[in-house]
Amino acid sequence: ESTFAMLKPDVASDTHTVDEIKQRIAEAGLSIERERVCRLSRRRCGKFYAEHRTRPFYPALLGFMSSGPVVMLELSGESAIGAWRSLIGPTSTETARKEAPRSLRAMYGSDNTRNAAHGSDSPASAAREIRLMFQK
Ligand code: CMP
Repeated sequence: ESTFAMLKPDVASDTHTVDEIKQRIAEAGLSIERERVCRLSRRRCGKFYAEHRTRPFYPALLGFMSSGPVVMLELSGESAIGAWRSLIGPTSTETARKEAPRSLRAMYGSDNTRNAAHGSDSPASAAREIRLMFQK
């Protein structure tokens, strides 16, 4: 199975943190098939997060996600979608710290928006996100 993973601007510029996260990816039995580092335009963030466009946090999300470089990864492995979602932990850093203290969001996130990492939530979103974010 393949999934789309993204390390967000709050962690992507810190090479030490990125290396630690890659170590955790390997420990979870996942392989990095493709990697791309870039700064996303607001337009591309808008396409990526289209399903959230009516939510109150959407403007802050777009501002944050286009504020600096991100590391985009295609991961593969047994149950990769669930394995990566479980590694990143709950969306809210506060919940993550309570319920999954070893998760990436607990360790590296700061709040609901600056939450270190993204992971696809289904095979259909994984396919869409990989296509959208790795297109030329
Ligand atoms: P992500 O997994 O990238 O998918 C949608 C993003 O919206 C999510 O991570 C958060 O960064 C952000 N988000 C989700 N819920 C909230 C919220 N309640 N408040 C602020 N941001 C949120």
